[in-house]
Amino acid sequence: MPRISRRTAELGTENAFVVLAEVNELARQGKDIVSFCIGQPDFPTPANVQEAAIRAIREGKHGYTPSAGINELREAAARYMGTVRGIEIRPEDVVVGAGAKPFIAYAILSVTDYGVGDEVIYPNPGFPIYESQIQVCGAVPVPLPLREARDFAFDPEDLQARITPRTRLLILNSPHNPTGGILGKRDLEGIAAILRRHPQVWIYADEIYSRLVYEGAFVSIASLPGMLERTIISDGASKTWAMTGWRIGFASNPVLAPQFVRWVTNTDSCASQISQWAAVEAIQGPQDDAEAMRRSFLARRDLIVALLNGVPGVSCRTPGGAFYAWPNVTEACRMIGAADSEDFRKRLLNEAGVAVLADIHFGARVAGEGQHVRFSYAASREAIEAGIARMADFIRRNTVRAA
Ligand SMILES: Cc1ncc(COP(=O)(O)O)c(C=O)c1O
Repeated sequence: MPRISRRTAELGTENAFVVLAEVNELARQGKDIVSFCIGQPDFPTPANVQEAAIRAIREGKHGYTPSAGINELREAAARYMGTVRGIEIRPEDVVVGAGAKPFIAYAILSVTDYGVGDEVIYPNPGFPIYESQIQVCGAVPVPLPLREARDFAFDPEDLQARITPRTRLLILNSPHNPTGGILGKRDLEGIAAILRRHPQVWIYADEIYSRLVYEGAFVSIASLPGMLERTIISDGASKTWAMTGWRIGFASNPVLAPQFVRWVTNTDSCASQISQWAAVEAIQGPQDDAEAMRRSFLARRDLIVALLNGVPGVSCRTPGGAFYAWPNVTEACRMIGAADSEDFRKRLLNEAGVAVLADIHFGARVAGEGQHVRFSYAASREAIEAGIARMADFIRRNTVRAA
């Protein structure tokens, strides 16, 4: 048998997809499961966006586009990303991709070399693709612990302590998956002050949830003095306009955009032309649906946080953005005799029919931070109420009483 490469054998994954397979198998067996696993809006893509795609098909927009994307979308995305962040972004600095996800790899590939010790700092817990891609690209992963006491921002001293002359890239993600935490202006100013002393470090600002901020305005590190040139801003259509399956993301950086274009040419050639025209409409058309989705997520956030805080052994901070809650279940684990959050997750799934992800699906557990699970609250109110009621009941039923 010809062998497969070590690189591929060691490639990481998004465990959401692994857990989803478990959930689907249980559902296939007829088990009634309330699922909080999936990180995507539970709304259809807005009708005007669907119509734009149908128009594009009918008008014969079927071919390849330039690897950087159609000019109309680069212009719309530049204006949009600039407005949301209060900065000026030029269309020629914007590259369209098949989702925001490919830019994680393109960025790491563009600023690190293979096997020479180039380091990339990334949030822990964090979107699992960061660590997986850092590793597979031959760079050194340097996890940066997030702190519950800071609402899941990190301590600037922890960042300072991890920067070395070999640091090439710092990945920031705000609003954050999986905690829902946000980096506020003060956090970002502290980070920028540190980075000014380390001019060799690029920043990858994963801002895919930029429109899902619930208190105050969204702030990007790119808007702070001296940061724009060295920041790769990543955003896209998936979360804001419920377009995960359409695969449209956009990234901007004045120096790296031409490199990203070459990476797109070497991988996808271009994003789907039909989806690109749909994204132009998503950005330029009415924003009522996107706003309604945001309001709905906010209402559900308030609901799930209140309900989780009523569950024995569970405490949940109020996440500032995205659609994730990251409750601390350390005490609940102790109460039911679960070894850790993963044992808790499995039992919750198998014994109570509630599907969540565990902290270990987002990187190694941070020492001293306890046990957490992730709820995606892109689920109906009924599902949230039923799921949390089942969880509370499960913990009560299984609480091991001291003899
Ligand atoms: C933090 C983060 N970055 C990037 C992505 C990828 O989004 P896209 O659908 O645009 O590839 C996701 C999707 O879950 C995410 O949570």
